[in-house]
Amino acid sequence: MTPATDRLRHWLGDARPELAVILGSSLGGLADAVANARVLPYAGVPRFPRPSVSGHSGEVIVGDVAGRSVLLLKGRAHPYEDGDAAVMRPVIEALAGLGIRRVLLTNAAGSLLPAVGPGRIMLITDHINLSGMNPLIGEAGDERFVSMTGAYDASLAEGLRAAAKAEAIDLAEGVYAWFSGPSFETPAEIRMARTLGADAVGMSTVPETILARRFGLRVAALSVITNLGAGIGGASPSHAETKSEGAKATADMTRLVTRFVQDLDHGR
Ligand code: HPA
Repeated sequence: MTPATDRLRHWLGDARPELAVILGSSLGGLADAVANARVLPYAGVPRFPRPSVSGHSGEVIVGDVAGRSVLLLKGRAHPYEDGDAAVMRPVIEALAGLGIRRVLLTNAAGSLLPAVGPGRIMLITDHINLSGMNPLIGEAGDERFVSMTGAYDASLAEGLRAAAKAEAIDLAEGVYAWFSGPSFETPAEIRMARTLGADAVGMSTVPETILARRFGLRVAALSVITNLGAGIGGASPSHAETKSEGAKATADMTRLVTRFVQDLDHGR
């Protein structure tokens, strides 16, 4: 058991979260939907990262959503902060160590589809790693050779589609391409990503998916579209826009995730 798992196990006490949710840029508003919340700063957990990005606060929250215990990770660290693609490894490893089998990753992303504009939520069905990095580089042993086929769990995705339908949320879906950032893409890179089959671009999530699969977690992932990719209709994305547009999707994200959790059956 890692020291982080040990610390979290003590802190959780009797709570047995059924799902972990990693909250992306300015999606922290979801945390307000948690009943009986208890909060532990990342600083209190051994080897947990210290997110340095505004809009990412760094707290573990446990509480109830729709009557089920859920663990929220509010704030993530990104590989672009110090070049470490495995910066979230202690977090993902701790989730597995705690026996949490499902993780929902959320992020803010730029859309490559003019018809899917700011404020829309996109279900991630697959990804393209354009970063040149991989969080498993440097790991020894055969467990590093993780299959990425079906990385985004089909049954959890079905649960998110059903939740969106029940909440009358127009859920987009598509392929997310990971650029390292922190600079935004050029218009030429955005055209390239589109040509390669991506529907959205962002600077996170993919390394966490790889780590989650490494540790046997089932993954669901959602992007909040905060802008159109650079150059599409003259778009020139900014972090300020990511934060303000991301926050505007809080109400829809909260309804979607609450319904998803409510209908999360043990088979899913
Ligand atoms: N590119 C990369 N990351 C992002 C974007 C984008 O356009 N929007 C929000 N995060």
